[in-house]
Amino acid sequence: LIGLLTADAVDPRAFAGLDMTFIEAIAALAGAEMHSTDLLQALELSAEKMGLIARDLLREVRRDKGGAMLGESPVMVRLRREIELVARSDFSVLVTGETGVGKELAALAIHAASGRREQPLLSVNCANLMESLAESELFGHGKGAFTGAGEERTGKFELADGGTLFLDEIGELPLAVQPKLLRVLQTGDVEKLGTSRIRRVDVRLLAATNRDLEKEVAAGRFRADLFHRLNVYPLRVPPLRERLDDLPLLAGNFCQAIARRLGTGTITIAPSALARLRSYPWPGNVRELENLLIRAALRTSAG
Ligand SMILES: Nc1ncnc2c1ncn2[C@@H]1O[C@H](COP(=O)(O)OP(=O)(O)OP(=O)(O)O)[C@@H](O)[C@H]1O
Ligand SMILES: [Mg+2]
Repeated sequence: LIGLLTADAVDPRAFAGLDMTFIEAIAALAGAEMHSTDLLQALELSAEKMGLIARDLLREVRRDKGGAMLGESPVMVRLRREIELVARSDFSVLVTGETGVGKELAALAIHAASGRREQPLLSVNCANLMESLAESELFGHGKGAFTGAGEERTGKFELADGGTLFLDEIGELPLAVQPKLLRVLQTGDVEKLGTSRIRRVDVRLLAATNRDLEKEVAAGRFRADLFHRLNVYPLRVPPLRERLDDLPLLAGNFCQAIARRLGTGTITIAPSALARLRSYPWPGNVRELENLLIRAALRTSAG
């Protein structure tokens, strides 16, 4: 057992039209996702506990996570070429784009095409970083560095030494932590919180955001100096509506993946449905397309 799925509604008839196959399919998908997320978290935790021993394992898991960046439209061909180019350097890359466009996939692709591909890629989602723990997560802390800091902890920068650190949703990084991050990027020196030990690390930094960081800087929510340090190479992932010619390829691929996961036969999309997909603005981009197809497939297989 890895979780419980509950459904509640005020209206007693709310579930009358739902059948068990549908619910079971959703539970199976959610379960598989939770299971792999759990495994990943456990691995990260043990990598932290045992120093760097589990790095190899982590690397393998990460490698399987990112699929290929599909798309033959001119903007996607250009993006892939840009990724190949920038991957060879050690520049910081700031990946921007609307929600669900594939920013994380682009970051994984940069690492995978870089000279560091055999080294670990670690990710931190800055939106999940509570201000009070952000520093310790990134830079680590010594034993008893603050109330509640029992064991010594290795930060993500140190764990990523020799490899790549991906700071996702960098726009959400607490202002108080920003100067410290900038300092580490400038000097390469990481100081564990509550200790005076300094360790030099060699980390390539990738960051992503769906915010307009220039606006955030103007509004005083993001430090200009950090922005410029991150924005050495800006990489924009275009929204889905700028590459509608990729819809059939993307949709076809998602259908195949869904059919595999659901264990159903081939799933195809009617030409009339495809035409309707083309006329939709896709505010949630590729992720929205994927979710829509999953829902449609579940509904269809539930009859
Ligand atoms: N070009 C693509 N080819 C295949 N799959 C893609 C492509 N772009 C995105 N996806 C898929 O769409 C989903 C969303 O991608 P991803 O998580 O990289 O987006 P994001 O820009 O980081 O989103 P968010 O802003 O919500 O964090 C993922 O499942 C990803 O695998
Ligand atoms: Mg993302």
